[in-house]
Amino acid sequence: MTLTIAIDGPAAAGKGTLSRRIAEEYGFHHLDTGLTYRATAKALLDAGLPLDDEAVAEKMAREVELAGLDRSVLSAHQIGEAASKIAVMPAVRRALVEAQRGFSRKEPGTVLDGRDIGTVVCPDAAVKLYVTASPEVRAKRRYDEIVAGGGSADYHAIFEDVKKRDERDMGRADSPLRPAADAHLLDTSEMSIEAAFQAAKTLIDAALQTKI
Ligand code: DC
Repeated sequence: MTLTIAIDGPAAAGKGTLSRRIAEEYGFHHLDTGLTYRATAKALLDAGLPLDDEAVAEKMAREVELAGLDRSVLSAHQIGEAASKIAVMPAVRRALVEAQRGFSRKEPGTVLDGRDIGTVVCPDAAVKLYVTASPEVRAKRRYDEIVAGGGSADYHAIFEDVKKRDERDMGRADSPLRPAADAHLLDTSEMSIEAAFQAAKTLIDAALQTKI
């Protein structure tokens, strides 16, 4: 039986790093589902196609190859903005959710992170975590990341952007970002990544004890 760990939460909450650590710890496959929305958006932008044509966006979504997804080529701000626009389209979501569910069945187990994993993609996941942090902390983390990478950034612009992204992700009609009823909440505002990982591991080990 495949074990799936579902990790949801808002942008820049530390889900990605945490999910990779967890997948490594348990020897599970990992899928960052945000990349599936980003890859669809990039394909549209690259082809000069509109971002508001649901049928065209769905066609692109169906062509996304999960194996080749790479955050370093999909991290641009413009791609994130476009991704959050096409993510409101039900036909795009249906296509990507289908592919994500297929991935979630890989043996021996999987970690999927995104916005709707515990609520829509894998409602039967063995463990569900909802990872969050205050908008101020998330904006500061993103700011530090850009500066550490040698770039220049404007904290206030990033903060406004984080809030705007939250509104869009939480306010959309189809699969809005929200914790599943049975998700464990993990607020990482005052935690290092290592502390968040240890807290997640304790929750996962306890949940897995009861499933095996
Ligand atoms: O996590 P991210 O910034 O890479 O996600 C990009 C966009 O994709 C984000 O605005 C919301 C959307 N998304 C989604 O709707 N559902 C998911 N499971 C993952 C991401």
